[in-house]
Amino acid sequence: MPSGVFLKRSGSSKILKIEEYKSETLKKDEIRVKLHYAGVNYADILARKGIYKWTPKKPYVLGFEGSGEILEIGEEADNRFKIGQNVIIGSQYGCYSTEIITKENQVFPIVPQYSMQENGGFLATWITAFIGLCVIGRQYVGKNKKILINSAAGGVGTSAVQIAKELGTEVVGAVGNDKKFGILEELGVDQVINYQKQPLAKYLPRDSIDFCLESVGGKVFSDSVKVLKPLGMLLTIGISSIDFSIWRPLSWLKTYRTLPRVNVLKMISENKIIGGFHIGRLMDSGYKVPWNELVDFVTKHNLRPKIGKIFQLKDAGIAHDFIESRESIGKILLKCIE
Ligand SMILES: NC(=O)c1ccc[n+]([C@@H]2O[C@H](COP(=O)([O-])OP(=O)(O)OC[C@H]3O[C@@H](n4cnc5c(N)ncnc54)[C@H](OP(=O)(O)O)[C@@H]3O)[C@@H](O)[C@H]2O)c1
Repeated sequence: MPSGVFLKRSGSSKILKIEEYKSETLKKDEIRVKLHYAGVNYADILARKGIYKWTPKKPYVLGFEGSGEILEIGEEADNRFKIGQNVIIGSQYGCYSTEIITKENQVFPIVPQYSMQENGGFLATWITAFIGLCVIGRQYVGKNKKILINSAAGGVGTSAVQIAKELGTEVVGAVGNDKKFGILEELGVDQVINYQKQPLAKYLPRDSIDFCLESVGGKVFSDSVKVLKPLGMLLTIGISSIDFSIWRPLSWLKTYRTLPRVNVLKMISENKIIGGFHIGRLMDSGYKVPWNELVDFVTKHNLRPKIGKIFQLKDAGIAHDFIESRESIGKILLKCIE
């Protein structure tokens, strides 16, 4: 019997418990995969807290991505895949488990040069960083460009840093903890700053940044807007500093203050471009993710996910606490196989 970490109601990390469940019969267009590793994304934490809306109805098994081995293929599923083949899964839910049944369009071949850990933590963070920097932000990245990456030592952050550096960009990496400076220096970041020590705007002059990949919100967001050059762009992809907990009314006001806001008329007069995107909703709208381009890029430039800690599947709640502690570095994984 498979075991999975179900989200039955919103709550603290303590509500995440592993339990066995009955395996379903495969439909004709589905693929059954034995999961090896699952990526832990910040969005899983928001989903657990009841604030993330791109989710199915509860109860469901958490987890957007993972790596594993195909156990069974429905008779009408894509014949690109074979039983026993190692694959990557990108799904709206279901990867915090020992097994997943998924549609064929959510199954991708592994990146051959990566370990199963690296494959398990590749899809969500790298595709987000790639679309951010090489699709939406492509004119702002490269030689003679200076970009700011917030939460630069995290999952998306370490991917974005590697892509930007490979393209010859000058990178400022901003983080909330000095312990994260080491990895950023190792990745070739040109300037590292800790916005927990002093406000981001104190480290960087106004009009100094061509592009910012922003995911923190609150004062980090508003300071990042301030340091943009005229015609510079800020791309917001998340609000990690959000304190919202449905069961904790005192957090609601703090959350309201954290939400990124801009005065559009001010942006006109300052010539600044503010935007955002969400990978899941983009795919729902029919957007075809640039998967082949991404794999070609990481292969050509020999880039790989920076895997941080790996937790046992049953310890998914501890993994959430670790990311929320702001101590985590790189991509956090759950080990789904024995
Ligand atoms: N729009 C999209 O399609 C999309 C896709 C993937 C991810 N995202 C967003 O990108 C961001 C990074 O995601 P990830 O999964 O790679 O996570 P991550 O960066 O590995 O971890 C989240 C990071 O957020 C930072 N943070 C800032 N304030 C925080 C607070 N009050 N509590 C906890 N953490 C805080 C921490 O780094 P520092 O303290 O160093 O800042 C923490 O390490 C998240 O905001 C996520 O929602 C968006």
